[in-house]
Amino acid sequence: MHIAVSLSPGTRARDIAQLGDALGCVVVIDVLRASTVICTALANGARDVLPFADVERARMQRTANGKDALLCGEREGVKIAGFDLGNSPSEYTSAVVANKSLYYASTNGSVALAQAPVGVETIVAGFVNLTAAAEHVDHTGLATMIVCSGREGGFSLEDAVCAGALIARLWEVSEHAEPATDSAYAAQALWDGYKRDPAMSLWQSEHGKYLISLGFGSDLATCAEVDSVPVVPVVRDGRLVQSDPA
Ligand code: MLT
Repeated sequence: MHIAVSLSPGTRARDIAQLGDALGCVVVIDVLRASTVICTALANGARDVLPFADVERARMQRTANGKDALLCGEREGVKIAGFDLGNSPSEYTSAVVANKSLYYASTNGSVALAQAPVGVETIVAGFVNLTAAAEHVDHTGLATMIVCSGREGGFSLEDAVCAGALIARLWEVSEHAEPATDSAYAAQALWDGYKRDPAMSLWQSEHGKYLISLGFGSDLATCAEVDSVPVVPVVRDGRLVQSDPA
C-alpha cells in the first residue's frame, strides 16, 4: 500500500497526478483547526458536514436546502458575518450541532476537501483521530495520498508533522504501508523531531501563533490531543459523515 504526502497546496495537483489511476484514498489534514472541528462536530452528533471552498456558495446552498442547518467556518480565523458558528472546536457542542447539517467554509481545510478528486475514498485526519484514521486507511488497503491543507497556498508545520505521525501510526497498524515519495519520508523525519511533544509543532507554527494572537490559544491544546476524538469523517455524496466503525 503506497503512501504519498502532498506537503503544500502549491504542489497538490501535481502530487495527486503522480499517483495516477493507482490513487484510491485521500486523507485531508488541517490540524488547526478544520480537521479538529469536523471530527468534534460529527462526534457530537452533527448529521453531516458539507465543505465549501467559497463563503457565498455555502450561504446560497444553505438558504436553498438548509433545513436544520448551520452556517459554519471562518475567514482570517474569525467567524464570518452572518454565520452561526466560527472555527473553534469548543463551539461544536452536542447541544448546538446534534442532528444539524453544517455548511462549512474554512480558509484552507474545506478548500482541500472541496478539491479532493471525485470517486476516491476521502477522509479527514488530525491528531485528534490519528489512530482511527490510520486504521481506516489500512482497511481500505488502497494507495493513499495524505493532503496537507497548508496555509494560504503554502506549507504549514503542524499539518506536515501530523502527516508524519499518521505514517508512523500506519506502520504500527498495517503490515503493508510503504512510504512512496520524498515528501512521505520528509514528513516522517519531521514527526521524529516532534514525537516527544507533538503540541510543540502547533505552538511553533505560524498559524498557531496567529490563533494565539486572536485569543484562541486554548484551541491549540484541543487540536494537539492525540486520539481524543476517535471518529473518521468520510465523504459520501459530497458530505462528510462519520464512517461506520470497522
Ligand atoms: C482553515 O481551514 O484554514 C483553518 O481551519 C483556519 C482556522 O484555524 O480557523
